[in-house]
Amino acid sequence: MNKRILRGGLLLVLCFIADIGISIFPVQAVEKKPQDIIIFNNQKASRGKADMPPARFSHSIHNKKLKCKDCHPSVFKEKKGANIVTMKKNINGEYCGKCHNGQFVWDMSACRRCHV
Ligand code: HEC
Ligand code: HEC
Ligand code: HEC
Repeated sequence: MNKRILRGGLLLVLCFIADIGISIFPVQAVEKKPQDIIIFNNQKASRGKADMPPARFSHSIHNKKLKCKDCHPSVFKEKKGANIVTMKKNINGEYCGKCHNGQFVWDMSACRRCHV
């Protein structure tokens, strides 16, 4: 074995040890766990006309595949009721529509997946 391969091997071992260190002593998450189910209920009047119930969002389902920073603070303010979502904004790619656009994930036509 030549020196380069040896050095490469040593580097791999060091990386591995560093990795174990990180998984044994994880950096403590600073955020507290957010409320799981959030009900969007700001638009009673226009939902009433369209006969649509409030919209439901689940942190636990989204957090399986996404990181907090995928949504906070760029897409949603981290405060219940602080984001005024309309379907116009959703369809224009804001709020839920940032992802529910038929490309990243299923689109806005499935009304009753959100409005339950
Ligand atoms: C897919 C997008 C998305 C992801 C990912 C996400 N959130 Fe949220 N979060 C929301 C939405 C939507 C609301 C509700 C905002 C509203 O009511 O206007 C919210 C509300 C909150 C709130 C306010 C409600 C409460 O519990 O006090 C906190 C805090 C919060 N999120 C923290 C987090 C943290 C921490 C993570 C990562 C572990 C996270 N969120 C991941 C979308 C997301
Ligand atoms: C950052 C991207 C992102 C944003 C923003 C986002 N979602 Fe999602 N959503 C996802 C992904 C990814 C899934 C998971 C799809 C899967 O696992 O099949 C999902 C799944 C869902 C589901 C299906 C889970 C279930 O209960 O069956 C619902 C409902 C949903 N989202 C509603 C919303 C609502 C309402 C908003 C806005 C308040 C929103 N989402 C914003 C990415 C996002
Ligand atoms: C990915 C989730 C999602 C899907 C899919 C979705 N909506 Fe919404 N919609 C919301 C959220 C969140 C709000 C805000 C509700 C509130 O604050 O009262 C909203 C608000 C509304 C409103 C009241 C505001 C406005 O724009 O007039 C109507 C009406 C509405 N949706 C109809 C629909 C219809 C019809 C469909 C299907 C074609 C649909 N929505 C699909 C998430 C969704």
